[in-house]
Amino acid sequence: MNRLRDKVAVITGGNSGIGLGIAEALKNEGAKGVIVGRNQKTLDRAVAQLGDNFIAVNADVTRVADLERVFKETAERFGKVDVVVANAGAGTIGTVASIGEADYDRTMNLNLKSVYFTVHAALPYMNDGSSVILIGSNAAHRAYPNFTLYGAAKAAVIFFAKGFSSDLLGRKIRVNVITPGTTDTPAFEKFVPAEQVEGVKKTLRR
Ligand SMILES: NC(=O)c1ccc[n+]([C@@H]2O[C@H](COP(=O)([O-])OP(=O)(O)OC[C@H]3O[C@@H](n4cnc5c(N)ncnc54)[C@H](OP(=O)(O)O)[C@@H]3O)[C@@H](O)[C@H]2O)c1
Repeated sequence: MNRLRDKVAVITGGNSGIGLGIAEALKNEGAKGVIVGRNQKTLDRAVAQLGDNFIAVNADVTRVADLERVFKETAERFGKVDVVVANAGAGTIGTVASIGEADYDRTMNLNLKSVYFTVHAALPYMNDGSSVILIGSNAAHRAYPNFTLYGAAKAAVIFFAKGFSSDLLGRKIRVNVITPGTTDTPAFEKFVPAEQVEGVKKTLRR
């Protein structure tokens, strides 16, 4: 299948879980490009899996300077950007009673600010008529206990898709958001205490 032959894609969080699955799917349609993450080991492993047409850039999506570097390096290597997938993100588990300022800022920086600045940093390098894909969550559609803050960040990501679409009409850049349901990825093992993993997955499946 070659529906994306020679298209250049940048996938944040392309070294794990859903992002790696998206990178694989784009590759299978003929795309090439860049995966972004902080863990060099999983970046190397994912690039080996994706093959010669993909490179990894080690960057933190919560840092605007890192995002600017990602797109500069992408343009230097591939000349342009056709697809941006703002996928990097992670939940914070806790209630309005337990989550304080530091976790609030961390959650919003990773799940909301990073999405805005991924697109903002990409735009100077994007072709007219290109495509932006944002990753929301089922947690944005209904309230699950302990996922209020994460759900609020993801609900705002859904709004970003609407707002960016209208902002970018003049350049014919399409903006879509996908809101996955519970998906078995390494995220659960990373962020949920081992004895709570099954319970959390069950809650999110309801
Ligand atoms: N799994 C689910 O059930 C589910 C459901 C709905 C929505 N989602 C959303 O889907 C997306 C992917 O989640 P996943 O389940 O695939 O999780 P995952 O396997 O843990 O992948 C998360 C990815 O984000 C990257 N990342 C995290 N913080 C980063 C940072 N500061 N800078 C750069 N990269 C960063 C990670 O790479 P490094 O660790 O190398 O930085 C990793 O590649 C997230 O936005 C998540 O909220 C997941």
